[in-house]
Amino acid sequence: MADSCQAPQGFLAAVREAVGPDHCLSDPDLKASYELDWTRRFGGPALVVVRPANTSEVAKVLAACNRFQVAVVPQGGNTGLVGGSVPRRGEAVLSVGRLNRVLSCDPDEGLIVAEAGTTLASAQAAAAGVHAELGIDIAARDSATLGGMVATNAGGIHVIRHGPMRARLGGIEAVLADGTVATRLSGLVKDNVGYDLAQIMAGSEGTLGVVTKVVLHLVPVPPFRVTALVGLRGTEHSPADPAASVRSVSEVAVALAIRLRRHVDGIDALELVYAEGMALVREVLGLPAPPDPGADAWLLVEASGGQDPTGMLAEAIEDSPGVTEAAVADDAGGRARLWAYRERHTEAIATLGVPHKLDLTLPMKALAEFAGAVRSEVSAALGGQVDTRVIMFGHVGDGNVHVNVIGPEPEDYRADDAVFRMVIRRGGSISAEHGVGVAKLDFVTAARSAGDLTVMRRVKDALDPSGILNPGVLLPPVA
Ligand code: FAD
Ligand code: MLT
Ligand code: ZN
Repeated sequence: MADSCQAPQGFLAAVREAVGPDHCLSDPDLKASYELDWTRRFGGPALVVVRPANTSEVAKVLAACNRFQVAVVPQGGNTGLVGGSVPRRGEAVLSVGRLNRVLSCDPDEGLIVAEAGTTLASAQAAAAGVHAELGIDIAARDSATLGGMVATNAGGIHVIRHGPMRARLGGIEAVLADGTVATRLSGLVKDNVGYDLAQIMAGSEGTLGVVTKVVLHLVPVPPFRVTALVGLRGTEHSPADPAASVRSVSEVAVALAIRLRRHVDGIDALELVYAEGMALVREVLGLPAPPDPGADAWLLVEASGGQDPTGMLAEAIEDSPGVTEAAVADDAGGRARLWAYRERHTEAIATLGVPHKLDLTLPMKALAEFAGAVRSEVSAALGGQVDTRVIMFGHVGDGNVHVNVIGPEPEDYRADDAVFRMVIRRGGSISAEHGVGVAKLDFVTAARSAGDLTVMRRVKDALDPSGILNPGVLLPPVA
């Protein structure tokens, strides 16, 4: 396999002919933004960056890669956080950025059909134009593409209501490694004729094919939507009420999240931020004080439906242990101001250095104990390295916590390994929503059974027998 920066003779001519010379980038300055990932932790030189304009050009590019045995990295918005979207060792990059048209958006069928390079924000705008929503949202919406979101099975802030990207998928068009175009775009809810192409591609991280079109189910815009940011503090022993339990703020937050999930209809989001992250976001972005500025953590809760959910929310929150103050908004501007404290964590953390982004799910019953133990485990793994910061936040409603470790060098995996071990011991997952990429490759064998891995390898071998699609991502080499 050709994976150094030396192209096999005839390859560049073949891809230039497929996409036109202007869309075949070899100049180092033009290639640079495709070669480094969002975190700045992963990347390497690209043999060439190829920018096809449509499915037929994608098919020609892949057929050329297959014929000349050139490894290829599919790339959408390059907002992925696990190093799967960038070259490592001189692979070609196939960017779907020019496949960016919304093809149809039909509220009666409840479907949107778009090319894979369409950004989430563009698709959301098209849906809003017919008074509908996608039921999926992430803070990288302006750059992340629908194809990339399928390939990573992106999650985000509405998973507890509408599921991750695979649950939103109504169909797909994808090009396989040899240039075969596989199409299943009907969008029918019931369609049991054989294997589900869309579901095979969901979460495949560019290792099985290049997604070129995506069909997503729409949901109607709810008449009422309310967002609340709730200050939380750990509860202490109270002489006045000796029976009251002492709880850490993580225990308080998890208990409240479970209570809201169980007792309030129409919960769209349950997100958690801690004091350290809140202070950083406010400092970096100049945000005003949140409710209870001295709280230990804040739960952001959003609910929507045909009835105003404010009363039900207030009732569930008000007399919950550890709740201090809350701010509530039901207008777009007010809601966006509350969301900023949560959504802008990623960019604020990036100002501290290159983060080790550890995206994990834990069973709800293990989450608070994990959150309490993670800092000391990281510190022990790093031998007490003093300039390390651990900033946590996440989608507490589905048990998904983002642990960001800043301090260790990018290639130093001691903290990553220690945290992944903690997660596996507690019955959690080492990748909740970001995927495996190259960042978690060493832990796939611990996280999946031997039989699971065999199935994954056989699917890969069947669809990409030459192994040209994103080699070194998702599937660890056979021992
Ligand atoms: P890329 O980064 O370009 O690629 C990601 C992977 O998909 C790579 O393996 C790549 O090879 C493959 N790929 C890309 N396009 C295709 C295609 N057309 N066909 C086949 N394979 C393809 N993720 C979440 O899940 N939830 C969040 O809440 C969330 N929030 C984020 C917030 C910020 C500020 C940032 C920077 C990132 C966030 N992410 C989140 C991570 C990221 O946005 C998602 O993983 C997203 O799905 C990546 O889309 P992309 O188009 O940028 O893909
Ligand atoms: C988020 O939930 O904001 C994202 O997954 C991004 C991140 O983990 O930084
Ligand atoms: Zn997330």
